Amino acid sequence: MTQTYETLLLEKRDRVAIITINRPDKRNALNIQTRQEGAAVLEELRDDPDVGVVVFTGAGDRAFVAGADIAEFSGRTSITQRDVMMGRSLFTAVDSFPKPVIAMINGFCLGGGCELALACDIRIASENAQFGQPEINLGIIPGGGGTQRLTRLVGEGKAMEMILTGQFIDAKTAHAIGLVNYVVPADQLQVKTMEIAQHISRKSPIALQLAKEAVKIASRSNLDEGLRREVDLFALCFSTEDKDEGVSAFLERRDPVFKGR
Ligand code: COA
Repeated sequence: MTQTYETLLLEKRDRVAIITINRPDKRNALNIQTRQEGAAVLEELRDDPDVGVVVFTGAGDRAFVAGADIAEFSGRTSITQRDVMMGRSLFTAVDSFPKPVIAMINGFCLGGGCELALACDIRIASENAQFGQPEINLGIIPGGGGTQRLTRLVGEGKAMEMILTGQFIDAKTAHAIGLVNYVVPADQLQVKTMEIAQHISRKSPIALQLAKEAVKIASRSNLDEGLRREVDLFALCFSTEDKDEGVSAFLERRDPVFKGR
């Protein structure tokens, strides 16, 4: 049964679920409720066989997500903050989600918003999007994976610059440094994102899960270990009906119909 969420909208189009963070008056800043609901909606979608790909976006035309809700920071002790962060993490939920997750970045993508996008598998931005890790301006540092995932994605020099200066970069620059996969005019953002999401959603769900897992291993282990794990995951594909279907379809010159088995 679909739950109801106060800070999120959930829409399904074919095999793609779109989660819209819906606090446009606060530039979709992530407060505790939004993070909890984000993790809960992923839990719901994880076991939904009709959903192959998830898209995250922000409501309105100003922001994807403008970061953590700064209002929640005032007066908070380090112990409370640690408890909040040690709880169910939205970023970890996205990172370990067994289906591809795409960030559809429609505006400001800052702090925890940039970290949410970084936890996603593919990032597509509109030309008006802006990116930044401005935590340094508040006397703090990124805490949702920014120092780690951003560095792995764009390299130490560019990550260092963004994190130490707190300055924003535009979508074109984000594309040039490899932070986003595509930049498109704002009115093309949905079309481009759905095109990629629908395309992926027709692949074997098991192969997608194993492919995501294998790629994630690359930045978490050394090459020998990664290559070994890749062989295991590759071999695991040979236990699936989808592998038989994919191979048969190729040999019979027809499109495969994957069943996720
Ligand atoms: N947390 C809480 N509230 C936020 C927020 C955040 N991260 N980002 C924006 N808001 C709120 C503003 O306080 C304002 O609320 P109000 O109308 O009740 O005063 C509302 O969203 C609109 O923000 P505003 O600054 O007027 O909009 P803008 O479109 O001109 O600017 C930003 C947008 C995102 C550039 C600017 O709001 C900003 O710098 N936000 C903080 C970004 C940040 O430091 N993120 C990292 C947090 S760790």
